[in-house]
Amino acid sequence: MEYKKQLAGSLASQLEGMDESQIMELLEYPPNPDMGDLSMPCFKLSKVLRKAPQAIAEELKAKLDGIAYVERVEAVSGYLNIYLDKAQFVSTLLQDVLTRREAYGSSTMGEGKTIVLDFSSPNIAKPFHVGHLRTTIIGNALYKLFDFLGYDTVRVNHLGDWGTQFGKLIVAYQKWGSKEQVEAEGISELLRLYVKFHDEADHAPELEDEARAWFVKLEQGDSEAGKLWKWFVDISLKEFSRIYKLLGVEFDSYAGESFYNDKMGPVIEELKEKNLLEEDEGAMLVRLDEYNMAPALILKKDGSSLYHTRDITAALYRKKTYDFDKCIYVVDAGQSLHFQQWFKVIELMGYDWADKLVHVPFGKVSLEGAKLSTRKGNVVMLEDLLTQSISKIREIIDAKNPDMPNKDEVARQVGVGAIIFNDLSTNRIKDIVFSWEEALNFDGETGPYVQYTHARCCSLLRKANGSESTELPAGGESFDASLLLNDSAYQAAKEAALFPEKVVQAMNKLEPSLISRYLVDLAQSFNRFYHECPILVDDAETRKARLALVKTVQLTLQNGLRLIGLESPKQI
Ligand code: ARG
Repeated sequence: MEYKKQLAGSLASQLEGMDESQIMELLEYPPNPDMGDLSMPCFKLSKVLRKAPQAIAEELKAKLDGIAYVERVEAVSGYLNIYLDKAQFVSTLLQDVLTRREAYGSSTMGEGKTIVLDFSSPNIAKPFHVGHLRTTIIGNALYKLFDFLGYDTVRVNHLGDWGTQFGKLIVAYQKWGSKEQVEAEGISELLRLYVKFHDEADHAPELEDEARAWFVKLEQGDSEAGKLWKWFVDISLKEFSRIYKLLGVEFDSYAGESFYNDKMGPVIEELKEKNLLEEDEGAMLVRLDEYNMAPALILKKDGSSLYHTRDITAALYRKKTYDFDKCIYVVDAGQSLHFQQWFKVIELMGYDWADKLVHVPFGKVSLEGAKLSTRKGNVVMLEDLLTQSISKIREIIDAKNPDMPNKDEVARQVGVGAIIFNDLSTNRIKDIVFSWEEALNFDGETGPYVQYTHARCCSLLRKANGSESTELPAGGESFDASLLLNDSAYQAAKEAALFPEKVVQAMNKLEPSLISRYLVDLAQSFNRFYHECPILVDDAETRKARLALVKTVQLTLQNGLRLIGLESPKQI
């Protein structure tokens, strides 16, 4: 929809020193439709133009009468309130959505720019738990947003496949494990061993030394350590891919921490050459006192590398390989300091692209008060959560719509969708407490609610066609928009028109929850329209117009759901 841009352009041409994009920033959507469809507060302009806000609004009002899309304008208390030509607005919007369909909301603004997204990145040999869910879901949604806006994207799964935990695992496996059991039980057996290690090490601290020694061996290419490591990685990856498949998430690269094993040497040399490395009791670090941060540890006493070392190396590698415009790390807020530290190291190394590294933090997830920590073994495995959600939705479908075809498929789409949507339902930085009742509520602000509304649109279209088709009946594109000017129809159309702007906002703020909340608003406005205005009425023209709005909302919901990683079943 170009109407807002056009309007901003007309306004800018009346205001010296202001351009279209500045006016775009100023334009607001009034909370109450009596105050217009759009409104421009003139208070900021008042300073620049040295005139009273109300005087500015009145002058603009005189000049704006009769321009495209505008029915009338009012100058009220320093605001310029703009009332759109409703029929023109609705007709343009619907035609636009019905023509662009799956592409509605997309743009080419990102053309030629590359975004690297580091997300999910679970640790090998530890189960994928609810704590890892958020990075996977937020990262995937961000990927879809950038992709939709025309950016080139690289999805990297920076697997935690290196580090002291492998030393621990090797020790535990040798002492208390067996090949058969690991093969039979996969990650949960690896987890049992890992937890056992920590329990035992509590009263036998020498185990820690043994574990460290094994990790050093691994880093130095010892073949026994290497073989075990590879085996643990393969077992874990097999389980992770099952979950990614369920969630519909894919990656372009699985270059995890171990990938940088042979690439760290030159980076450490570079740090030395640039006089950034300092020795401290045998360890090597970069001091960051000046920036009020603890030092970044680069090498341990025993010469083994650390999380920082691998992240710095990976960033240099990614810059060289992908020449990114942004490299985004979707990692929980608990790791903020880690990122601040090594981003600073990159800056101190003299790389001007340090400001293109972005940490996207998010809050914790708890499940009915239970904390999620691998060490204690108190984890809720994500796969359990997903399968439980699917079977709960399946029960609801069995009770309410027992004759529906593809019940299993739909239960999967809605069950998984409920979990994803719940994770994206509030600002990412907030902690969330997971509750089944909330996540699966078909009447709440949930995935099932939005998906159900989408299915309702499809069902109306099917009925109108008297067939399985969810397209507009023949000739449905030539409708009379003046039949959609009653309050609830107009509000639903206005809501659908906001979609492209929301997509850009969500991308700019790296906040996919803006899309989920928008979808709830759109679904609610649509449902108001649906309850007030019967769609399949006898009057052919009214029916045609209402169906065009139904199809518009259906396409918009579908595009929005897809952007946050949800499917849109046509029937629930
Ligand atoms: N493996 C880490 C964890 O599970 C997250 C890695 C995030 N990515 C990164 N480049 N540091 O805590």
